[in-house]
Amino acid sequence: MRKLENKAVLVTGGAGFIGSNLVETLLNQNNKVVCLDNFATGKRINIEPFLSNSNFTLIEGDIRNLEDCQNAVEGMDVVLHQAALGSVPRSIKDPITSNDVNVGGFVNMLVAARDAGVKRFVYAASSSTYGDSKNMPKVEHIIGKPLSPYAITKYVNELYADVFARLYDMQIIGLRYFNVFGRRQDPDGAYAAVIPKFVKLLVEKQSPVINGDGTFSRDFTYIENVIQANQLAATVESDEAVNTVYNVAYGERTTLNELVSWLKEFLSDFDKEIAEVEIVYGPERTGDIPHSLASIEKGRSLLGYNPQYSIKEGLKEAISWYWNNLK
Ligand SMILES: NC(=O)c1ccc[n+]([C@@H]2O[C@H](COP(=O)([O-])OP(=O)(O)OC[C@H]3O[C@@H](n4cnc5c(N)ncnc54)[C@H](O)[C@@H]3O)[C@@H](O)[C@H]2O)c1
Repeated sequence: MRKLENKAVLVTGGAGFIGSNLVETLLNQNNKVVCLDNFATGKRINIEPFLSNSNFTLIEGDIRNLEDCQNAVEGMDVVLHQAALGSVPRSIKDPITSNDVNVGGFVNMLVAARDAGVKRFVYAASSSTYGDSKNMPKVEHIIGKPLSPYAITKYVNELYADVFARLYDMQIIGLRYFNVFGRRQDPDGAYAAVIPKFVKLLVEKQSPVINGDGTFSRDFTYIENVIQANQLAATVESDEAVNTVYNVAYGERTTLNELVSWLKEFLSDFDKEIAEVEIVYGPERTGDIPHSLASIEKGRSLLGYNPQYSIKEGLKEAISWYWNNLK
């Protein structure tokens, strides 16, 4: 597999879940890594192990501030832009801040990267861009109407990326992540993602609440597959493969009911009583789409993307990490 090695790489949002995992892999592969983060949702503990590494630089700054972006991109070969405010419900509650960070911050990063002559700009796009499209599996060129302010911001990123690539001759690739999970994903707070939230509740022997009847499904994607996609996008050479977007997923869908039953099964290897925790059902959440499943054929053929971790394999690794880190 193509890897990013011996390069200078900026990871924005590097103190967050996906960003800190990218930073870790890149440092292990002898890259110089700069992390730009304002710790809005990221955590110091996520990057603590890297602070003593001479190849790692932390810039505490905000992508809404152009100067911070300019400082961070200086001398970089590659940008992996992860910084954003995630979560559909957060954006419904506060669309202004989501837009300021996810759109304003994105344009700042593009301008800074353009002016610094960065060779490759890879950014976190989102499966939420498929919106109300009923098409299944989701293929990159068929999207629907966005269902939340968050989805709009992520789609607007794609529009800006396309225009910047054309106007300024930049090399930009968007990766539409589908429900990513794995070590260091935050289990706490109102906007926590379902897997870490449920794992934590089950570890504490409290009942997880499923929104709806549990038949909604998602293409849950383990973090290692996302790291692979980023490296492939950062290093791909063919013209046809750049200035476009790719689904980053495993390519299988799992219902919430299946997910919870696997979580209980795998966690009960650590504590048998977890198998007895009851599941509670609540009302459906606004802005949620019923089903999400990616076609990963475009990434396979143009990037060489070949996800190594199924959802079950990923869940086993993630659960053992949470078991050791939550207790
Ligand atoms: N986790 C998923 O399932 C998923 C799915 C689709 C897309 N994405 C996208 O992937 C990216 C990373 O998501 P994540 O799950 O790691 O979330 P995260 O919240 O753990 O990480 C985001 C990071 O960005 C930082 N950040 C936020 N606002 C900032 C600002 N103004 N300036 C500088 N840094 C800022 C946060 O402090 C945090 O460290 C985001 O762009 C998100 O929209 C994630």
